Amino acid sequence: MPGTPTIDGVLNLLGLEAAARPHLESVVHDYIAGGAADELTLAANRNAFDRLRLAPHVLVDVAQRSARTAVLGQPLAAPWLVAPTALHRMVHRDGELATARGAAAFGTTMVLSTLSTTPVEDVVRAAEGALWFQLYVYRDRGASEELIRRVEAAGVKALVVTVDAPLLGLRERDGAHPVALPSAFAAPNVRADQVIEGGDLATTFLRLVDPALSWRDLAWLRGCTRLPILLKGILRVDDATRAADEGIDGIVVSNHGGRQLDGVCASIDALGPIARAVEGRCALLMDGGVRRGTDVMKALALGADAVMLGRPILWGLAAGGAKGVHAVLGMLAAEFDLAQALCGCPDVGSISRDILAD
Ligand SMILES: Cc1cc2nc3c(=O)[nH]c(=O)nc-3n(C[C@H](O)[C@H](O)[C@H](O)COP(=O)(O)O)c2cc1C
Repeated sequence: MPGTPTIDGVLNLLGLEAAARPHLESVVHDYIAGGAADELTLAANRNAFDRLRLAPHVLVDVAQRSARTAVLGQPLAAPWLVAPTALHRMVHRDGELATARGAAAFGTTMVLSTLSTTPVEDVVRAAEGALWFQLYVYRDRGASEELIRRVEAAGVKALVVTVDAPLLGLRERDGAHPVALPSAFAAPNVRADQVIEGGDLATTFLRLVDPALSWRDLAWLRGCTRLPILLKGILRVDDATRAADEGIDGIVVSNHGGRQLDGVCASIDALGPIARAVEGRCALLMDGGVRRGTDVMKALALGADAVMLGRPILWGLAAGGAKGVHAVLGMLAAEFDLAQALCGCPDVGSISRDILAD
């Protein structure tokens, strides 16, 4: 893509981790790269994409192509967003501001983590108005309500409530080297009286996040905000159906990048049945293992409106700050453009189930 920055020596998203490695302390590298327990689901997220086969249309005029789309009214230059990930200032000194600038330069939306190391108001400005916010619901519901009101006032466009993490998954790599939270980064979206000075991520998470969150709380959440609400971390058809029945605006089919319950299925394997069950009643996103333009094509063919990228963004951030993030998004865009041409799908609306081989 003309004008898109590059990362030296990196050809594709699978090459990013090696490029990022020299820029990261090993504890931070392991925190990003790792999954839960035996990392079976982490591996499955990639392998499942590789098992899907494409069945391209030929003799379609693909001289003009567009990757543009919109999700919940948010225009996107391409059908992917930046997944919420914690603690960007441990990855690059400019932290979430750099990520937001990289995403905005490309033309997509970043989902800011509750565990951001930069105040949401500053990130909204850097994101040029295209920011969504990921919410971990706190034990202290008053503090959560305050945070929801604050992000809405800041200009955030949607709330992505993570529902697959009542407790933090078994991160054995982090157990060996706990991810310390430097007090300089005191999580600014967490009320000051709730920050545990000098604590590690796992302890802080346990103290803050409410494992009692349940379906009953959806009405409370709805009453706290006028923003569209998405639930992130759904893998079952019955949960997806219930979310749609209860009027949730969007679902993110996700296993948290293989970082929560090890042994669950790959996100892409859960997507098709969920898409059939919700039948377009709410927006449908997926994440986990998306690394190739053809992966995006496969996810859209199975019914996703868009996908999200987790680790590749952090590797790009480490390697090159805002330009690194922009470069990652641009590399995927070049691959997706080629996949559109070779699949005979010149626009996002023309991608459907029939481009997957049975
Ligand atoms: C380092 C790291 C931190 C993450 N932090 C959060 C978080 O704060 N909230 C959340 O909902 N998901 C979090 N996730 C999960 C991502 O949002 C996303 O589901 C996952 O990374 C997608 O898989 P991928 O990394 O294979 O693209 C995190 C993932 C990583 C790798």
